[in-house]
Amino acid sequence: MAMTDTELTLRHPELGTGPVSTDVYWKPEFYERELRAIFRQGWLCIGREERIPAPGDFFTKELPTFKLSIIVARGKDGVVRAFHNVCQHRGAGVELRDAGHCKVFTCPFHGWSYNLEGELQGVPDQKAFYDLRREKLGLPALACDTWEGFVFVNLNPEPAQGLREYLGEFGAGLEGFAPFHSPTTEFEYTARIQVNWKLMLDSFTEIYHVPVLHKRSVASSICGPNNPYGRVVDVVPRYPHRMATLSGNPEYQPFPVQGLAYGLAAGPSVTSGGSGSPEDLPAGVNPARDPLWTLDLNVFFPNMIVIVGPGMYFTHTMWPLHAGETIWQMHGHLQPAANAAQRFAQENAMVELRDAVMEDVNTLERIQNAISQGLCDEFVFHDHELTLRYQHYTVLKWVEDFEKTMSAGR
Ligand code: FES
Ligand SMILES: [Fe+2]
Repeated sequence: MAMTDTELTLRHPELGTGPVSTDVYWKPEFYERELRAIFRQGWLCIGREERIPAPGDFFTKELPTFKLSIIVARGKDGVVRAFHNVCQHRGAGVELRDAGHCKVFTCPFHGWSYNLEGELQGVPDQKAFYDLRREKLGLPALACDTWEGFVFVNLNPEPAQGLREYLGEFGAGLEGFAPFHSPTTEFEYTARIQVNWKLMLDSFTEIYHVPVLHKRSVASSICGPNNPYGRVVDVVPRYPHRMATLSGNPEYQPFPVQGLAYGLAAGPSVTSGGSGSPEDLPAGVNPARDPLWTLDLNVFFPNMIVIVGPGMYFTHTMWPLHAGETIWQMHGHLQPAANAAQRFAQENAMVELRDAVMEDVNTLERIQNAISQGLCDEFVFHDHELTLRYQHYTVLKWVEDFEKTMSAGR
């Protein structure tokens, strides 16, 4: 049945249809509440498990939002664990490399060492210490769990929900998506942008802007005569997460160099315009079973988007620094290149993504500037900007619910 012009939002009456205040995108007081309620309580993805396939493999990850450094290591028992990268002698950073393989982590200051399970192992000249309680001097552990190869941590040592419960039906629907389990070549882009973390998420989760802002780059892979204004196929809110499905343009004609790159590539890329084989997909991927399916935008509350398409995925993660400043990280996962031609195709995919993101970012800093000066007090959302309306609703609800629970527990 054809969709009417205003229908998606009406399916979720709790969201309303009116304008929403832009306060939550720039006010420092609200930002502090978000840090306490959301970023210190929610599960945060800090990387992929395939970076550490064998016992003794580790990587380190900075969490710029809290100026934290975390070690993620695979123990002798194969379990992935996360620790604060802080020596319990006098607080130095223990592991300064980005990644590697070791039996113990040795602090570069005085040489205390910790095993892969975070326990204190060696203390030079231990006899000269008074009452050294070794069992209390391990690296501080974080709550850590993995899902479909993604490594998550929680800054609350006793999270209100385990990771699977937190991801709920939303996560269950994506389990088994084949590219999450295939070997990939990872690439990363990162930038520090003067914008609120939620506005950054917003610009990657609606496509109303695609035929206009991206008209010289990625627009024609999604928007053609069948979808001139950038409408989505569907939006599925699964509190506190959300997802949108997009169809591709069946009349898409890549530019000549793009066409060459897609022909040579080892696998699909974000703008190659392929459509999936719906019967092979987990229920939560292209849940509408749209025959022209090209991408799903899955938002893992609070700060990660996993964009999946036929045979591929990539992620955006936002790490807020202040109410109006964010570190953005994009991780692409492409099938490994077997020859120079496939390597060229990878490079093309990376550059296409980078250029499209730069188009988005160019609009964002001006928006932040305008709202923080009171020049745009409210956002007026289009029906197909429902993921944005849902984010606004979700963030407010999560913060208010958390604060109520805290005051009830006092
Ligand atoms: S601070 Fe690490 S050994 Fe002294
Ligand atoms: Fe965009």
